[in-house]
Amino acid sequence: MEELPSQDAELMRRAHEASKNAYAPYSRFCVGAAVRLANGAIVTGNNIENAAYPSGLCAERVTMFGAMAQYPGVAFEALAVTAYSASKTIEEPVAPCGACRQVMVEVEKLSQRPLRVLCQGETGPVMVFDGVETLMPFIFLDKFL
Ligand code: THU
Repeated sequence: MEELPSQDAELMRRAHEASKNAYAPYSRFCVGAAVRLANGAIVTGNNIENAAYPSGLCAERVTMFGAMAQYPGVAFEALAVTAYSASKTIEEPVAPCGACRQVMVEVEKLSQRPLRVLCQGETGPVMVFDGVETLMPFIFLDKFL
């Protein structure tokens, strides 16, 4: 964390804060995310579960969809993700699920710039990806439609 540029450290700090709002009574795995937009806005979100399990949504998609709804047409610059669990201390970076990565690809394409993705556990190192291509190779794209 100490080596991160201040903008990244601030975004990760906001993601940690957002993880405290997680509604995760079933998994007790509390995820927080924060995105920084080209207009300087930071939008945060958290996972939201449901008794009908598949009706819940990951923190990353809650956050990306929320940002797109609040700031339509504004490019995304970076996304930070973190999590903590009731059952153990998460010391390695949280890996976003495949569905969230698919959404990141769309967001990056719309933004016409690489999406910087920062992943951290409750503590420990931050993994930084400059663009989502390495996170999601051989992706499904609109050109197939
Ligand atoms: N979860 C996220 O919010 N993001 C991820 O990248 C992985 C998983 C949530 C979904 C569910 O509420 C809980 O973590 C356990 O899977």
